[in-house]
Amino acid sequence: MELVRNKVVMVTGGAGSIGLACAIMLAQNGADSVYLVDIKDIETIVAQKQIEQYCPSLCIMQDVSDEAGVDRVFDIVSQNGHTIDILVCAAGIYTTTNTFETSMEDWDNVMNVNLKGTFLYARRALQTMSAQTGGSIIIFASTAGQAGDIRTGPDYAASKAGILGLTKSLAKLGAPGNVRVNCISPGIVKTPASAAKDVALAADEAPLGRIAAPEDIANAALFLASDMSSCITGETINVNSGMLMSS
Ligand SMILES: NC(=O)c1ccc[n+]([C@@H]2O[C@H](COP(=O)([O-])OP(=O)(O)OC[C@H]3O[C@@H](n4cnc5c(N)ncnc54)[C@H](O)[C@@H]3O)[C@@H](O)[C@H]2O)c1
Repeated sequence: MELVRNKVVMVTGGAGSIGLACAIMLAQNGADSVYLVDIKDIETIVAQKQIEQYCPSLCIMQDVSDEAGVDRVFDIVSQNGHTIDILVCAAGIYTTTNTFETSMEDWDNVMNVNLKGTFLYARRALQTMSAQTGGSIIIFASTAGQAGDIRTGPDYAASKAGILGLTKSLAKLGAPGNVRVNCISPGIVKTPASAAKDVALAADEAPLGRIAAPEDIANAALFLASDMSSCITGETINVNSGMLMSS
């Protein structure tokens, strides 16, 4: 069953582990085309080639924290005769610097990419989708933003806590136009960037006895992107093997 048949998709951070897994999942499930937005040129071109096995794809090199860049990206989409139906905001940076060593430059950088970048793209997509028949926006938090975590930087946790509030505010704004806004909150995900000791520790502690793979996150994204979740908005779905269970 092609759950997102004929939908036009944009994935920020599309060259990253989770962004690429989501992009491939949506492409495999009937997407019309997939736009990737990222700052890593070679990795994004490689990602584009992978997606092109399933549907047309275009990569756009753009820093998501650059406000003027949002117009550039959406102009490229519209010049191709498209409007976005599904937005996945997976661009993000992770920090482990402790509270007392976190510089204000680090703080601003993390907030700019994780929170402002997500806000800029989600806001723009919401506007576009509201003017059509609706759409689905998926943004990314983290258990660090829900429960705190001294292994991650305070800037990272704070940026992800901000995403939880942003999800609900944008969901309320988007609902009259049938734009659903939901959040995925992973715990540690097994990616090339995950520290082996964190992966082993988390797998030990996780009730399900393993940590999530990027494909586990992409399954949740497919659900939220598709009409299978048509009555769900403003929600945060934990994909963390039971490490943190919300009430
Ligand atoms: N991997 C995990 O364990 C984990 C856990 C919880 C939450 N998350 C969240 O999931 C999302 C994806 O994580 P991931 O593991 O795929 O990370 P990743 O580092 O593999 O991918 C992130 C991508 O974002 C891109 N990016 C960074 N700054 C950018 C900018 N300014 N403009 C455009 N693109 C930029 C990077 O180039 C990279 O391709 C992030 O928001 C992350 O915080 C990840």
